[in-house]
Amino acid sequence: MSTLGTIIVLAFIIVVALLGYFFNKTMPTDLKVAKPMYKTLVLYFSPADEVSDLAHEVHQAVGGDIIELKGNPAYTGHDKTRAFKEWITGATPEQITPIPDLANYDTIFIGYPIWFGTAPMVIKDLLKKNGFAGKDIVPFAMETAISGKRTRSIRLLRTHAPRAKVLPRLLLHKGQDNQVRIAAYLKETGLK
Ligand SMILES: Cc1cc2nc3c(=O)[nH]c(=O)nc-3n(C[C@H](O)[C@H](O)[C@H](O)COP(=O)(O)O)c2cc1C
Repeated sequence: MSTLGTIIVLAFIIVVALLGYFFNKTMPTDLKVAKPMYKTLVLYFSPADEVSDLAHEVHQAVGGDIIELKGNPAYTGHDKTRAFKEWITGATPEQITPIPDLANYDTIFIGYPIWFGTAPMVIKDLLKKNGFAGKDIVPFAMETAISGKRTRSIRLLRTHAPRAKVLPRLLLHKGQDNQVRIAAYLKETGLK
């Protein structure tokens, strides 16, 4: 093979490997946990107060502690301009709610609104500053036309909490009783 041919083949292999790596990260680390949940923590970010209802439903089903996450400065409802700037630049806004020592928990539920097909950038700060290694993370969000299909928030969680196990997303419906759906998810994943 000529030198040019070799270069083309190598470039092709590298591109395929990179694409494989990129898309693999949009998949959960695992579909099931090794043992049922024991000490649970529900964290949620909900500047426009929609995900907060879902978070309280999750908390009702799984117990443990529940904490609302806040950005610095605080987000004001549907703050699209700020959210867009952060998303496009990959900025990491500060998460300022004190988080207890995660050594006290094994399963952490993280709820967030879907912004531009992924989790808000403030979630990055949460993951970077706290020890999620070895934890089972359950991402939960409101099911919408976009959130149902797009799994980019999984990549954000896996990238910034690389040593945690990120389970499939628990998608819930606004304004509905989600307890049956949550119970089915806990059974499927082996959490309960
Ligand atoms: C900046 C911004 C971007 C959004 N992007 C999406 C999106 O890509 N897909 C989607 O389904 N919903 C999107 N939404 C709608 C939010 O996901 C929805 O309003 C969310 O549930 C609000 O949650 P909260 O009230 O708990 O903050 C977006 C909302 C905002 C404010």
